[in-house]
Amino acid sequence: MEVIIQKTVESAASLVANLIARELRAKPALVLGLATGRTMERVYRHLARMHSGDSLDFSRCRTFNLDEYVGLSATHPGSYHHYMNKHLFTHVNIRRRNTHLPDGTADDLAAECARYEALIRKCGGIDIQLLGIGSDGHIGFNEPLSSLRSRTREKALTVSTLRQNAAMFGGDPDKVPRRAITMGVGTILEAKRCVLLATGRDKARILAKAVEGPITSMISASAIQLHPHCTVVVDEAAASGLRGVEYYRWIFENEPEWQEFRQKKLRRSRHERA
Ligand code: GLP
Repeated sequence: MEVIIQKTVESAASLVANLIARELRAKPALVLGLATGRTMERVYRHLARMHSGDSLDFSRCRTFNLDEYVGLSATHPGSYHHYMNKHLFTHVNIRRRNTHLPDGTADDLAAECARYEALIRKCGGIDIQLLGIGSDGHIGFNEPLSSLRSRTREKALTVSTLRQNAAMFGGDPDKVPRRAITMGVGTILEAKRCVLLATGRDKARILAKAVEGPITSMISASAIQLHPHCTVVVDEAAASGLRGVEYYRWIFENEPEWQEFRQKKLRRSRHERA
């Protein structure tokens, strides 16, 4: 795992978007695992800008979202189908048939979960999985005590998640569906690469536990420590609970993969000073 600390929320989101853009240019039929939540909105804004400004091509890209609420139709404003259309799909040239989210309205939810897993396999697995982190440490909707080997399945949401996600439901936690379909922790860990983005002081405590604490099913995000290729991108505020900050900065400065990003940053700060 590596941890990249960026000065601002915006530069953290921009780095993640640039990383995705680089992979997409290298592999136009990229299989991209997508996440939702406020943190990701900035990433999708950057990607949409790169599509219109730099002709970033999504025409062969395939996507799989982490999760969806049970019982919400694709047009419900609180659904993740709606979120993805609003923040990404309608802004880029992705083919709608190449975008996949679990169907929370399926009659047989267990069969829907199995179908979703099979479809990911049929596409050759996920190349890059984007991840956010919930205030209770969840990735996807893998709430505390989710097995670290779990697969796509239905889960009950915790009270803290209902509160965290209430904004999309008029601020009322009682309106948030109590159940969701989510990729399992085991499913997520099979992605070839994971990129977790966390920003803001509210995430500092849980992020430090996930990155530097013991691996535990109580904090499903801690499972990323088991992943052979995971990049955690944070802003200074989210990094404020980490103990290894100096070490992480040193690695970032010396890692060849990030050279072009460091140069971009240098150009940006020269431009700002001029
Ligand atoms: C939801 C999603 C998670 C996401 C989390 C973070 O709960 N199911 O995948 O990580 O939101 O949300 P935010 O970025 O709004 O803090």
